[in-house]
Amino acid sequence: MKTLWCLLVVVLTFSGSFAVDRNNFKTCDQAGFCKRLRSFKPEKSQYTLDINSIILNGNVLLAEVTTIDTESDRRTVLWNYILKLSALEDSTFRVELNEKEPLYARYVTQLALQHEPRPDGINLVSKDNGKVVVTNNQGHKVVITAEPLKFEFYDKNGEVAVVLNENSQLLVEPLRKKREKTDDEDVNVVEVEEEGMWGENFKSHHDSKPRGNEAISLDVSFPDADQVYGIPEHTDRVHLATTTSGEPYRLYNLDVFEYELDSRMAIYGAIPVMYAHGTKHTVGVFWHNSAETWVDVVNYADSTVVSSLVNLVTGGQKRRVDARFMSESGIIDVFVMLGDTPADVFRQYTALTGVAPLPPRFSLAYHQSRWNYVDEGDVRSVDDNFDIHDIPADAIWLDIEYTDRKMYFTWDAEKFRHPSEMVANLTAKGRKLIVIIDPHIKREPGYFYHEDATDNGYYVKDKDGKDYEGWCWPGSSSYPDFLNPVVHDYYASRYSFDKFPGTSKDVHIWNDMNEPSVFNGPEITMPKDCRHYKPPENGVEGIGSFWEHRHVHNEYGLFYIRGTFDGMQARAPGQRPFILTRATFAGTQRYAAMWTGDNTAEWGFLAASVPMCISVAMSGVSFCGSDVGGFFKNPDAELMTRWYQAAAYQPFFRAHSHIETKRREPWLFEAATTGLLRDAVRRRYALLDLWYTLFFEHSRDGLPVMRPLFQQYPKEEATFTIDNEYLLGDRLLVRPVVESGVTSVKVYLPGADTQTLWYDVDSYQPHQANGYFTQEVNIAKTPVYQRGGSAVWRKERVRRSSSLMSHDPYTLVLALDWNNTSEGTLYIDDGETYDYKEKKYIYSKVKYTPEGITYSFIDDSASYPTRSWVERIVIAGLKTPPKTAKLSQNEKQTALLMTLHKGNDVLVIRKPGASMAKPWKITFSY
Ligand code: NOJ
Repeated sequence: MKTLWCLLVVVLTFSGSFAVDRNNFKTCDQAGFCKRLRSFKPEKSQYTLDINSIILNGNVLLAEVTTIDTESDRRTVLWNYILKLSALEDSTFRVELNEKEPLYARYVTQLALQHEPRPDGINLVSKDNGKVVVTNNQGHKVVITAEPLKFEFYDKNGEVAVVLNENSQLLVEPLRKKREKTDDEDVNVVEVEEEGMWGENFKSHHDSKPRGNEAISLDVSFPDADQVYGIPEHTDRVHLATTTSGEPYRLYNLDVFEYELDSRMAIYGAIPVMYAHGTKHTVGVFWHNSAETWVDVVNYADSTVVSSLVNLVTGGQKRRVDARFMSESGIIDVFVMLGDTPADVFRQYTALTGVAPLPPRFSLAYHQSRWNYVDEGDVRSVDDNFDIHDIPADAIWLDIEYTDRKMYFTWDAEKFRHPSEMVANLTAKGRKLIVIIDPHIKREPGYFYHEDATDNGYYVKDKDGKDYEGWCWPGSSSYPDFLNPVVHDYYASRYSFDKFPGTSKDVHIWNDMNEPSVFNGPEITMPKDCRHYKPPENGVEGIGSFWEHRHVHNEYGLFYIRGTFDGMQARAPGQRPFILTRATFAGTQRYAAMWTGDNTAEWGFLAASVPMCISVAMSGVSFCGSDVGGFFKNPDAELMTRWYQAAAYQPFFRAHSHIETKRREPWLFEAATTGLLRDAVRRRYALLDLWYTLFFEHSRDGLPVMRPLFQQYPKEEATFTIDNEYLLGDRLLVRPVVESGVTSVKVYLPGADTQTLWYDVDSYQPHQANGYFTQEVNIAKTPVYQRGGSAVWRKERVRRSSSLMSHDPYTLVLALDWNNTSEGTLYIDDGETYDYKEKKYIYSKVKYTPEGITYSFIDDSASYPTRSWVERIVIAGLKTPPKTAKLSQNEKQTALLMTLHKGNDVLVIRKPGASMAKPWKITFSY
């Protein structure tokens, strides 16, 4: 058996052909509940609300709901449910529907929400004529139709924005007991049960389904929506496609080897939030469920939707999108976010699931990884080569081979004999080490983790209650049950410096394979009938006393990274941890950055990195990147160059590659290419303070750092489907070159209606927004534009690592709008501790008007003793140049030197010398 699995691992690792093996993964038809639910299309919903049962309690409306057999004349009640409608702060409602008396508790996702959502008031306006009308305190109305049950949510202008159960696809399959047929029972009398109710097979795997079928489904309609977005992680476009003639979008965290592009197949992450956007409003729904989920979409404007259906459903009106969520288990638990702008819904979603905390600044810089840097000498030489070739870098990564035979929290005793010295060498240059720690544990006698886990019952159990054994990198492995608080604490405590020798505050963590990946499991993951911890309850035994993996699958990886985060906080309480995760779920952003997994060194994968990261950024996880250069295969110089240039403008910037690829550190290319790679990395370092400011602002406002164009230009229809360019905050527009051999690209510049100007960051040449224009590109050019009206702070003295630049001087680039103004923010702190929570930071605003420039603190009560000063101010788009400029700071006034450039519209103030630690002002005279 072992040899067989070794072979499989080898095949998984070294396979020569590049295409996903679709046979390893289910289609909707092969997933019992998806097939069942997709064919469930009743004429009329069986769900009815009992208006007389309504109770208002705080911010919640409670009512009984029944399913009624409408086909029989007697209208027999089939099942009873409890409905809970909660009004929440910030234009959000929550709808929960659960069985009134379920046979066993049904699983409610545990970690997605950052805390109990904050209530708003709810008011019962009326309950007559079969309709219940409620409002919240923010002026939104919900109309509930009792029979058949339907919910209509109105936007602020009184228009219906979201409808639940319009298409009668609400379903909560009640939990039932398995009926054992007795010998004398007539087979015809035995309750008819659905196919696969008590077990199903996929390939050689049997899922025992001890609780039987317990799926749920709900349809959501978005009248007036042009497009829907979200539900990552998939490899297709940012705006979602109509699925009627193909597979639904699948949300099930999976380790998909050689995943394919333009696909709705599940991959590593599953974030069940969907946004609907049109010119009238933007709304969203968050499907709070961690089980396997499939989502169908019908956009009535898509050419694939036949006109008879458009007429039938919308009366010919093409502006409408319908979606339908189908999950294998759980309760109906859906948050309706009523926007009404894109920024509003993105904020409403992060208000529920949390924001990314301020990351350590180094993590926004350049990372060098490879599977694997083979020993300490290799790490040393990579580290040195960055200096020799004058390329900055902030972290070197170690993949699984650094361990003693894939036993995490250990080091290979031969190759990594002096980890502390290795780390000290890096930190001397301000660099960090990042090591991988995976969730699977080698079943190796004598390995402390395995022994502790076995002795104390820390592992996830199989369907029979024994420690589950699967196959992963170390061979035979088991998987700690991070749902158990004791296991969480045990795992977190492994990070203390005494337990993980060789590590220090400068060693950060990469959590991989946390879908979880199980090479010999069904669909390369854990069997759904494995058992997880459930807090003991009096009188609950047997099936009701544990959760099945099926209930928690999509949040297993989140439980894991939460353990890592807590462990890193505990090992060095004053230091911000950096964690990279592959599996994602709603709420991941609170703990980790993510990357798009095992991509391929092909142009299509470079292009896909852009929509993939925009999509997760809209879904709360701004800190996203892809393996630069591509994980599989060897990129040529052009692809490598374009990938570095693109990634320099994506949040997480890490080169990484498969163990079998050719070495490809930047200096291993021809000098010209090395020069281009150096240039790309240096551009990133010059803008690090912008990145840091944007992440700081995200930690306050919850908005994406990498933004779809329609977020800033929600009325401009062309932006709704643009996903090959994006905005960084509200300042830069980036259109990376992701095509081979091109000499020009089409760039869409939004904001024509407000005469927005976009300045080419290389030349300061302004372009007035007017839809698409053609930008010439040579191999050195990445089209990036600064919005007129914005201010960007740069650091031009690039050094070996970001920490060595922290007190360096700034260059301020002011790009003027039509009104001759511009402004922007800057955040400064120590970059690594939590001292900012004690007001040790500067959050400032700089503002240009023709009278002068003011630099002032937004948070007056905070300060930070930065030694940085202003070494240059560039003003682009100037109409009338001033004659003199005078700096005032600390009651001192200094006359400044200026030079005019280009056609006299770019003014450079040389060495103003103002300290960034205190407010200052420059006054012009004409
Ligand atoms: C899978 C990850 O996606 C990849 O980045 C890593 O190199 C390998 N596991 C080995 O750890």
